[in-house]
Amino acid sequence: MKCILMNKNKEILLAEYDSATGAFTQIVDVYDINYAPYILKSFYDKDDTNNNLFRTNLSNWFKGRGIPSWRDKLDLLLHRLNISAPSLLLDKAFGLSLSDQYWIKPYDLDVCYDDINFFDNDFDFTEFMEASLSKNSNRIIKENSLKTPNNTTDGMLKKAWIIDDGKRYLLKGGYKNELLQPFNEVLASEICRRLGFNHVEYTLDTYKDIVVSKCPCFITKDTELVTSYQIINDMKRHDNKEDYEEYISKLENFGIKNAREKIENMYILDYLIMNEDRHLNNFGLIRDVNTLKWLDVAPIFDNGQSLNIEYYDERELHTSFEGRLFYEVKPFDEIIKVVKDLKRIDLTKLDGIVEWFYELLHKYQSITHMSDKRIHLLCVLLNRQIKKIKKIQEKG
Ligand SMILES: Nc1ncnc2c1ncn2[C@@H]1O[C@H](COP(=O)(O)OP(=O)(O)OP(=O)(O)O)[C@@H](O)[C@H]1O
Ligand SMILES: [Mg+2]
Repeated sequence: MKCILMNKNKEILLAEYDSATGAFTQIVDVYDINYAPYILKSFYDKDDTNNNLFRTNLSNWFKGRGIPSWRDKLDLLLHRLNISAPSLLLDKAFGLSLSDQYWIKPYDLDVCYDDINFFDNDFDFTEFMEASLSKNSNRIIKENSLKTPNNTTDGMLKKAWIIDDGKRYLLKGGYKNELLQPFNEVLASEICRRLGFNHVEYTLDTYKDIVVSKCPCFITKDTELVTSYQIINDMKRHDNKEDYEEYISKLENFGIKNAREKIENMYILDYLIMNEDRHLNNFGLIRDVNTLKWLDVAPIFDNGQSLNIEYYDERELHTSFEGRLFYEVKPFDEIIKVVKDLKRIDLTKLDGIVEWFYELLHKYQSITHMSDKRIHLLCVLLNRQIKKIKKIQEKG
């Protein structure tokens, strides 16, 4: 299919797209590389636009906006969607997403962004939500119900975009039989709210008898999320401490205010909840898609993989854990050293939060069947991290 890659109303390039494989097979012309996804600019050579590197990275980027091969229960989802691979979804709704403004416009089709984007135009999410989140649905989705932003969601967890009272929200479940992720998301929001960190607000919701987290879309029609993976792609690779410093310098050069403080806040949260999953696509920046101006660090999101979730053992409390700092996996006690100024944080604001979390977990116990022992251990871990960070703060 001949199509134009668009960024909202701007034409980026003209290309041949192969729906069956989800790949761009030829680049015919590049109109405006500035409006291209940030990661592609470093692969662009204006004298050789169809070079394999640029084209391959364009295809990789486009596929990366879709449902990944490691999505929890992908086989079941594909069965319910009646398709054989997630890449087949990529162009079902022009490739539109709720995390950025890119889309592919068939060359011969007279269609404009205002009429199709999912920020303004409602979509039918009920069937996809059932296909994605339901434990025991036999329903096969109708072709027409595939015109949703759910075709372009990244990440390992089962999830669905929904509309509630006119607003767009992302629902996320737990991984396999694990139920803790939604609670960790809500705990992270509570910590951020108390400490004044800019964050995405997650609440709990239930879908059928499953507890899910629910958060509003933090992107608007005028913005896009550019993940750190894209931002550091053109940086020279050093050891991690230097990657971290260079990343902050880059953000400061982009004109982002209090960049260091905002990144530190994220690592403080990760320390408190022992978030194992701060990979490079779980934080980033917000860019204005009209002016291409960098606006801010993205609010802190995706904090569910925390509190010893992967290594839970009813018989013993594991206390030595590792998180992520750019390309490296390191003990949390090492990562927290990147924070230069911990004194600015009023940790007394966390007083009572362990009891708050304890009550929250108990409140949903009739649905989650989480054991008293596990709730106890989760609270011990949280309490332990709070005490430890207070000590680090005292030592200065
Ligand atoms: N509230 C939101 N508004 C807009 N886009 C979002 C929002 N939350 C998540 N996203 C986008 O959806 C992607 C997947 O979401 P998220 O990272 O929460 O899922 P996940 O399955 O937990 O991911 P992972 O594989 O990192 O565990 C994010 O990388 C981001 O691009
Ligand atoms: Mg994620």
